[in-house]
Amino acid sequence: MKIGLVGCGYWGKNLLRNFHELGALGAVCDALPEHQELAAKMAPGVPILSDYEELLNSDIPAIALATPAVTHHQMAKQAIAAGKDVFVEKPLSLTLEQGQDLVRNQGDRILMVGHILEYHPACVKLVDLTRAGELGKVCYVYSNRLSLGKVRREENILWSFAPHDVALINRIVGEMPESVSAHGAAYLQNDVADVTVTNLVYPKGVRAHIYVSWLHPFKEQRLVVVGTQKMAVFDGVTGDVTLYDQRVEWQKGEPVPIKSDGVTVPVSDAEPLKEECRAFLRAIETREPPLTDGINGLEVLSVLESAQESLSNRGRQCDVVRNFDLACK
Ligand SMILES: NC(=O)c1ccc[n+]([C@@H]2O[C@H](COP(=O)([O-])OP(=O)(O)OC[C@H]3O[C@@H](n4cnc5c(N)ncnc54)[C@H](O)[C@@H]3O)[C@@H](O)[C@H]2O)c1
Repeated sequence: MKIGLVGCGYWGKNLLRNFHELGALGAVCDALPEHQELAAKMAPGVPILSDYEELLNSDIPAIALATPAVTHHQMAKQAIAAGKDVFVEKPLSLTLEQGQDLVRNQGDRILMVGHILEYHPACVKLVDLTRAGELGKVCYVYSNRLSLGKVRREENILWSFAPHDVALINRIVGEMPESVSAHGAAYLQNDVADVTVTNLVYPKGVRAHIYVSWLHPFKEQRLVVVGTQKMAVFDGVTGDVTLYDQRVEWQKGEPVPIKSDGVTVPVSDAEPLKEECRAFLRAIETREPPLTDGINGLEVLSVLESAQESLSNRGRQCDVVRNFDLACK
């Protein structure tokens, strides 16, 4: 099974390496000569194209888009119209309406979005442990995704970083939030937030927050799940999941913290991006929707869109759309 990768930039080169290692790279397309050169070096013998139309007209049956988010809707729509299965880097698009348009029109094509943490072995383990009740009832989840750069010009930090956290927290909680509120600030560019904090309220009582910033002195990617029985931490920098057998118990009417050292949970060291690429290839072959299919993409877009609305309205609580309009228009 061969795929055509479009975009060999900052992130696309990682997809290139992985699809190539899996023997699945049929062609690479990039508009920039220096990125074509890089692709040619990384994947000798693989055809390198400059024109997306040429890839659309080729007999390569599937396309992976690692182009800027602002291009996703139009380029994915073209791929579907050309009869290709399509993988789209996150976010699926820059509005819920654009995402719905893709899902409405995908027909029997595979549509997958690159919510990579859903394929990260440590996150898969964390989701499994949580869903199996190992932590008791989940009370609170939070995620910090902080670093210095890469600063985007078109989408703000919420749309650039938070899709990963929204996807993973929804998966851990097992539902979509019913409302969100978000605050943030733009320091580097007018109207492009560099820092946001988003609060999420889930129907069954779980609450969460996501703090993202590309204006931060060091890299931190840490997701914490607080349950009634245990607590867990996923560290995205080390790739570890640590489980803390600790809670607060009531003894003689007093809240008493029960403390314990964390225990690192063994997980496979498979590369998350390779797992994601494998999932796309598997979906193409089996015709089964991948875990992060178009609907999953919409679930994340819907939360981002409500958070954006809140951000633009000084943190007003905003409902999250949870029933998507998928009727063909
Ligand atoms: N999963 C992750 O952790 C992760 C991390 C970073 C970026 N991303 C996503 O990857 C995507 C790409 O981001 P990036 O930082 O690599 O961008 P980039 O600007 O570094 O690279 C984009 C590449 O696409 C090419 N391109 C754009 N339009 C094209 C067209 N019509 N035809 C051919 N080539 C075209 C550009 O020439 C460029 O080489 C974004 O959606 C971003 O959100 C994901």
